Amino acid sequence: MIDWLGSDLDLDKVPTHVGIIMDGNGRWANARGLHRTQGHAAGEPALFDVVHGALDLGVKWLTVYTFSTENWSRDSNEVDFLMQFNVDLLERRRDELNDLGVRVIFMGDVMDDRVPRILRDRIKDAEDLTAHNTRLTMVFAFNYGGRIEIVDAVRAIGRKIADGSLNPDAIDLDAIGRHLYEPDMPDPDLVIRTSGEQRTSNFLLWQAAYSEYVFTEVLWPDFDRHVLASCIGEYQSRERRFGGAVDESLTDIER
Ligand code: FPP
Repeated sequence: MIDWLGSDLDLDKVPTHVGIIMDGNGRWANARGLHRTQGHAAGEPALFDVVHGALDLGVKWLTVYTFSTENWSRDSNEVDFLMQFNVDLLERRRDELNDLGVRVIFMGDVMDDRVPRILRDRIKDAEDLTAHNTRLTMVFAFNYGGRIEIVDAVRAIGRKIADGSLNPDAIDLDAIGRHLYEPDMPDPDLVIRTSGEQRTSNFLLWQAAYSEYVFTEVLWPDFDRHVLASCIGEYQSRERRFGGAVDESLTDIER
């Protein structure tokens, strides 16, 4: 029994892994005459309400797109704000996340020279502090891009072929998956994008091949655990076939 949950979700069919493209912070701020960065700041409580909701519902992996490889092209003041915001957020929230049993992982090119040294240190602190937690793994897709992730996997595989430790004929779907940034991460069952945009924007390109996508008009700062639950409700109403077909003439038992 979850006290805040009004809808009739099937708690036995909660997605194991939910990915979220948190979009619409800038528009949320503009609509209020605020600076775009204030929209990002307003996204923090939304994110942490979602963490609490995910924990209550039994989601095991939550991947959030916090900074894409394309976001470097934004105004330098906004980029600087987002870097410092990540530092502040990790300092403010890491103990809370640890107390909740959340494991924090940053996925992407954290070692990029453009990522400030202090942020790299805070990322390592948060990852080390929470490494043994098992209730929920929260993946910050940061300086992340799905295409470059695949390029990096191909490079790693190419190096192994060059040094003779891998036979090209052994390259299959699993082999590619094992060379992605987080090889132990299950594929996302559900990917949510906020703010009415309907694009994948380079998010988990390989892993989301069979994910259900739910697009909501809600701008990220207005998102919370209730909207998460309604997106999961939509997910539960879909039939996942992974490319197979269901013969409607068969009864459930025959299937
Ligand atoms: C997209 O909104 C959001 C981002 C590029 C940054 C995501 C950051 C947060 C949600 C803040 C909280 C979380 C962390 C971990 C730092 P947008 O700026 O593209 O919005 P717009 O499309 O309306 O301009």
